[in-house]
Amino acid sequence: MKICIIGAGYVGLVTGSSFAELGYEVVCVDINPEIIEKLKNGIIPIYEPGLEEMVKKNSEEGRLTFTTDIRKAIQSSLFIFIAVGTPSAEDHSADLTHIFNAAEQIGSFLNHYSIIINKSTVPIGTSKKVKEIVSQALNRRDLADLHFDVVSNPEFLREGKAIKDFLNPDRIIVGSDNLQAIDHMKRLYKPITSKGFPFLVMDLPSAELTKYAANAMLATRISFMNEIAAISDAYGADIQMVQEGIGIDHRIGHAFLSPGIGYGGSCFPKDVKSLIKAASDKKIPTPLLESVEKVNQRQRKKLFEMIIEQFGKSDLSMFKFAVWGLAFKPETDDIREAPSIDIIRKIIQHGAKVHACDPAANQNVRKVFGDERIKYFQDPYSAITGADALIICTEWPHFQLADLGSVKKLLRNPIIFDGRNIYEPKELQEAGFVYKCFGRNI
Ligand SMILES: NC(=O)c1ccc[n+]([C@@H]2O[C@H](COP(=O)([O-])OP(=O)(O)OC[C@H]3O[C@@H](n4cnc5c(N)ncnc54)[C@H](O)[C@@H]3O)[C@@H](O)[C@H]2O)c1
Repeated sequence: MKICIIGAGYVGLVTGSSFAELGYEVVCVDINPEIIEKLKNGIIPIYEPGLEEMVKKNSEEGRLTFTTDIRKAIQSSLFIFIAVGTPSAEDHSADLTHIFNAAEQIGSFLNHYSIIINKSTVPIGTSKKVKEIVSQALNRRDLADLHFDVVSNPEFLREGKAIKDFLNPDRIIVGSDNLQAIDHMKRLYKPITSKGFPFLVMDLPSAELTKYAANAMLATRISFMNEIAAISDAYGADIQMVQEGIGIDHRIGHAFLSPGIGYGGSCFPKDVKSLIKAASDKKIPTPLLESVEKVNQRQRKKLFEMIIEQFGKSDLSMFKFAVWGLAFKPETDDIREAPSIDIIRKIIQHGAKVHACDPAANQNVRKVFGDERIKYFQDPYSAITGADALIICTEWPHFQLADLGSVKKLLRNPIIFDGRNIYEPKELQEAGFVYKCFGRNI
């Protein structure tokens, strides 16, 4: 029952260490030798709550190992997970280069029956292509008779809560039309399903589409609320009350209804775009999904426009802005497609200086912008000292609990642009702040 995970990133590392935690023997492979070297030395290249402890424990107990030797990893495993990145290509489709490279490597080294499991988010038909690539590579090695199966097993974990989500999933989805492979997958996930978590079997295309549909639905809820927030602002309604008023309806629920500068991260933006592209390849119009994407882009621009409007000019070279929160959401260091990046880029382009502050993502942002126009801070109060305004891009809990008296004293001007609606407008106005947020500018 040995498991090989190809790709030791956010999903691969969580998947690998969680299976090890369940008692399996797991080997994680990555093409990036730096990542593997760090992991071998007990250094976790990403920030995910609980991951460091879990990796350390399972490595020490000998169930979790790391290697760049993909041949050995493949040849010693029954389950081979593909958990490599599928970023946006230039035409907005999913770039499947890493998936196909992994498939090619599997076909080059496979020497016994295995189940190849696609955990990455991939367009419909990708698992079929993976099967073809592996078959072709086996043919070239005169191993056409070597049996293997390919299943789709999309991952629904949330960064920041990834381990909990992996071990306590709303559902495990397995796409396959092969009974033997489905049985193996049921056995693999038994330690989780035996606690009552649902295991859904479906055909390959449906499993692949389910992942995109889930992300597109969640993104749609956010953009929908952002549109309602704009209407709230125009008519003097309070979006928070509207949010509570609709979220309490059991048909709607509370999740993913928060307005602000919109969604980011390594999934929603690229997956919505990829779904639109997949539909357009089949000449299916997607006005709804296109609007979801447009509204989301508009939110980031809106915050910048609020800044320009407040300072009365587009030349910001006289100003320094503190930015609280750089990660695309709290409890992660992931800055892929983070709204903070677009907002910082825009204000820097207009001449401003930035004091950036994030408990986990400063180093990642430094890799993007360097040190010339940005200073990085761990302490939020040092970051705002002498700044002309505070911009909030990520709702880390300690920002929500900030001492607003000190914030007011330390800022040069008591101005807050809150991209995540973390404070009460009335309280801030009474305390003498100029407070700009989304859908609550009553
Ligand atoms: N991050 C999330 O929250 C999340 C959640 C659900 C699904 N997903 C999906 O899971 C997939 C992986 O996402 P991620 O965030 O973990 O990506 P990531 O970029 O963090 O990790 C991918 C890793 O794969 C490695 N890699 C690439 N090609 C390889 C190869 N041929 N052999 C070995 N290693 C290789 C890279 O070096 C990298 O370390 C994507 O399709 C993503 O859409 C991500």
